[in-house]
Amino acid sequence: MHLPSPTLLALSLPIALAFSQFNPSHVSWYTTPANNFTSSLPIGNGRLGASIWGTAIENVTLNENSIWSGPFINRVNPRSYGALWPARSLLAEGNITKGGEVTLDNMVGIPDSPQSYSALGSLRLDFGHEEAGTGNYTRALDLRTGVVGVEYMSRGVGFRREYVASYPDGVVALRLSSSRPGGLDVVCSLERDRYVVGNTARVVDGEGVLTLTANSSAQTDPIRFTTEARIVADGGRITSNGTAVVVRGASTVDLFLDTETSYRYASRTEWEAEVKKKLDAASSAGYGTIKANAIADYSALSQRVDLDLGSSGSAGNLPTDTRLVNFRSNPNSDPELVSLMFNFGRHSLISSSRASESPALPANLQGLWNQDFDPAWGGRFTIDINLEMNYWPAEVTNLADTFSPFIDLMDIVQARGLAVAKSMYHCSNGGYVLHHNTDLWGDAAPVDNGTTWTMWPMGAAWLSANLIEHYRFTRDETVLRERIWPLLQSAARFYYCHLFPFEGYYSTGPSISPEAAFIVPDDLSVAGNEEGIDIAPTMDNSLLYELFQSVIETCEILQINITDCTNATSYLAKIKPPQIGSSGRILEWRLDYEEADPGHRHMSPIFGLFPGYQMAPLVNETLATAAKAFLDWRIAHGSGSTGWSRTWTMNLYARLFNGDQVWNHTQIYLQRFPSPNLWNTDSGPDTVFQIDGNFGFTSGIAEMLLQSYDVVHLLPALPTAVPDGHVFGLVARGNFVVDMVWEGGVLSQANITSRSGSSLDLRVQGGVNFIVNGEAYAGSVSTDVGKVYTVVPM
Ligand SMILES: *[C@@H]1O[C@H](CO)[C@@H](O)[C@H](O)[C@H]1NC(C)=O
Ligand SMILES: *[C@@H]1O[C@H](CO)[C@@H](O)[C@H](O)[C@H]1NC(C)=O
Ligand SMILES: *[C@@H]1O[C@H](CO)[C@@H](O)[C@H](O)[C@H]1NC(C)=O
Ligand SMILES: *[C@@H]1O[C@H](CO)[C@@H](O)[C@H](O)[C@H]1NC(C)=O
Ligand SMILES: *[C@@H]1O[C@H](CO)[C@@H](O)[C@H](O)[C@H]1NC(C)=O
Ligand SMILES: *[C@@H]1O[C@H](CO)[C@@H](O)[C@H](O)[C@H]1NC(C)=O
Ligand SMILES: *[C@@H]1O[C@H](CO)[C@@H](O)[C@H](O)[C@H]1NC(C)=O
Ligand SMILES: *[C@@H]1O[C@H](CO)[C@@H](O)[C@H](O)[C@H]1NC(C)=O
Ligand SMILES: *[C@@H]1O[C@H](CO)[C@@H](O)[C@H](O)[C@H]1NC(C)=O
Ligand SMILES: *[C@@H]1O[C@H](CO)[C@@H](O)[C@H](O)[C@H]1NC(C)=O
Ligand SMILES: *[C@@H]1O[C@H](CO)[C@@H](O)[C@H](O)[C@H]1NC(C)=O
Ligand SMILES: *[C@@H]1O[C@H](CO)[C@@H](O)[C@H](O)[C@H]1NC(C)=O
Repeated sequence: MHLPSPTLLALSLPIALAFSQFNPSHVSWYTTPANNFTSSLPIGNGRLGASIWGTAIENVTLNENSIWSGPFINRVNPRSYGALWPARSLLAEGNITKGGEVTLDNMVGIPDSPQSYSALGSLRLDFGHEEAGTGNYTRALDLRTGVVGVEYMSRGVGFRREYVASYPDGVVALRLSSSRPGGLDVVCSLERDRYVVGNTARVVDGEGVLTLTANSSAQTDPIRFTTEARIVADGGRITSNGTAVVVRGASTVDLFLDTETSYRYASRTEWEAEVKKKLDAASSAGYGTIKANAIADYSALSQRVDLDLGSSGSAGNLPTDTRLVNFRSNPNSDPELVSLMFNFGRHSLISSSRASESPALPANLQGLWNQDFDPAWGGRFTIDINLEMNYWPAEVTNLADTFSPFIDLMDIVQARGLAVAKSMYHCSNGGYVLHHNTDLWGDAAPVDNGTTWTMWPMGAAWLSANLIEHYRFTRDETVLRERIWPLLQSAARFYYCHLFPFEGYYSTGPSISPEAAFIVPDDLSVAGNEEGIDIAPTMDNSLLYELFQSVIETCEILQINITDCTNATSYLAKIKPPQIGSSGRILEWRLDYEEADPGHRHMSPIFGLFPGYQMAPLVNETLATAAKAFLDWRIAHGSGSTGWSRTWTMNLYARLFNGDQVWNHTQIYLQRFPSPNLWNTDSGPDTVFQIDGNFGFTSGIAEMLLQSYDVVHLLPALPTAVPDGHVFGLVARGNFVVDMVWEGGVLSQANITSRSGSSLDLRVQGGVNFIVNGEAYAGSVSTDVGKVYTVVPM
């Protein structure tokens, strides 16, 4: 089996090599074209996505992150408030079944779903080759540069295709070339099978121009957009037949592509002017410049972290799809598949989440890459784990820059959520509410109609946890003051209005424990029914605990002392602490109900272990023990059944300092879930693609090596299977960059760079003694900005 780089070299094309030295942790590559979407290779500049099939007739699946099905819809059910107190009373009286019914009959949104993420279309490039699957075929994605390349021989001629998504230039660009001068023929067109307004090809001043204008859907007031491709040929002849641009006898063909939509521009004139501006600039700069810009920008992010968990030797030199198959029977022989997957998670975040023309949009259920008009779960921003999980690796893997689209969306959600808080819950104190999904308009009303997911007024509380983490890692006080604080303040205010006193605590209700059901016991109405709606599930209490803590922390940092702050303190004191059941496990609900599915995929009741801290071992050992009992129980009953659930498990065992369990779930994850192109799937390669598990995976590996919720803890959960390795460039809370090398299962050295001058509290591998800059560690080190603190064990 040949490696990609020798093949690329063998072709001796007149193009600088896109691929850095072949490294099994950095390159995802294949010897056959994609045969479906989940084997295509995704790139993106945050806003525009392209996924490359590398087929004989090239197919590039295109996306733009604001192409969603339609306009904002106010879906608030006008009967909501009228049902709120009756539902509460029924639940409180022990009439669970009726309480749930009243809730769903009256509080579900009308219609019950918001808008969905939607397909753009594809770019088709017909080279007139019969097939591209033979003849030294290679297709690769380089995770250090973000470049995709396809190479093959056809009738003795070498062909090469290269693809980049440039964040600085706002375009996707590609270069097609042949090893024989004048040997390249290609027919280029844009394809979309629905709601097309116009699809034309022209030649203007020697450049081919493809223009597709379309509506996102058949709804009134859809998202409208224009996609344009400019085609520049070196040598040969360029013509158009009205719908395709035809190039004959060229040596090189460059293509630049952009899409702009009605989401960010008020009129077609404006978004088309933006398309023209970007493409004029790109085509006059030329492919070489766009590629260099794209690589410089991408590498500056991707190369901040370097992970080595051991070498795979020859097992790592096989194509990625073969490695995935081999891993199922022989997981220990390819540790670099773990690093490859870790790097792919960072690639996915860099490619799907960047600041852009306002508002930027964060990574959705499929990140950015979607070929369907009606994707699974609407391809939305799902809030009862998925959007939060997407950003778990952002801070710790040194990609805080990718977080700003998350804040942009939160601003949109907050404005909508204020209105929903007023109309659904009669809360007019400046508080906002969000349920378990949102769309590009910030839709904040309850979503779908199900007893175990719809009635969950906790979305803003969970997203707030990501917001405060951004500050804890970056220590950016300006962002905290100007952007995060107003959102935390408003999220907390809703609960100052909405919570009600129940059995001595401020309580939520009606609410759920995402997406789990319990069996109704004898004395709580219809015995044996499976229900989900109740008062104060454990997760709600933990989310409120974290939210009020965040408000208090922010008030201290920003030195504010207003009712918002004092309320947080008084409410925090009246949130019910986590309860431990007779079997020693954290209870999921307010009573020790029997779970309908003890192996449920959601780990909601131990949110306080990860990503929260309330149940973390250095915070409260009693709760950590009960959380572990809960986790073991879930796993013993088959949890980890979806990709994201399995990766949440990795993070949870890391928090429990159990490296061997993290590694076990890491390996099981890689054996069961990734599709050939490394995308996370719901329950195996033939099932639905959903990006969250990719991000959860990357976060889990980082959490295994570095934690900082309490102290900066080096190698807190190193698996015995990973005795030697290094990681450079992870980030700890307090804004420390951590480089570490370990040998024989023991830290050999760490360099910790202080980026904000915070004080540094340290712990090494569960408590061994160590030296910092030559002196025995004896508690908190005060640090200077830019200075490096070297840690070695005693
Ligand atoms: C090309 O990609 C589009 C979008 O992903 C997909 O719908 C279509 O089936 C693909 N075409 C071929 C020939 O594979
Ligand atoms: C939601 O579904 C339940 C059960 O199927 C039904 O009784 C209820 O009326 C539905 N709610 C709405 C608003 O359609
Ligand atoms: C593949 O590459 C090898 C080595 O460069 C060469 O000898 C062989 O002819 C190529 N095969 C085809 C089908 O072009
Ligand atoms: C696209 O949307 C516009 C505006 O809503 C509408 O007038 C037009 O008929 C739609 N065209 C197609 C092809 O759907
Ligand atoms: C232009 O050429 C393409 C590719 O050969 C073909 O599919 C299309 O039908 C042609 N269009 C016209 C208007 O002839
Ligand atoms: C503080 O809490 C009280 C209820 O306990 C509420 O009336 C008031 O609006 C809250 N203050 C703010 C600023 O939200
Ligand atoms: C539950 O509430 C309904 C409606 O008020 C009532 O008909 C039913 O008897 C109640 N069930 C119990 C067990 O209280
Ligand atoms: C905030 O103000 C309250 C009431 O004025 C006061 O009791 C409390 O001590 C103040 N807290 C801080 C941290 O200044
Ligand atoms: C741990 O949590 C339990 C349950 O909330 C509480 O009773 C106990 O005081 C906590 N322990 C510590 C050390 O905070
Ligand atoms: C993970 O642990 C389980 C239970 O101990 C074991 O059956 C399984 O083989 C392990 N899997 C891997 C990949 O280590
Ligand atoms: C896509 O193709 C791969 C490789 O042949 C296959 O394993 C997978 O099942 C296919 N996925 C779907 C969704 O068809
Ligand atoms: C720490 O920094 C020193 C001095 O630059 C360097 O020699 C050493 O390799 C570094 N160690 C790690 C773990 O990065």
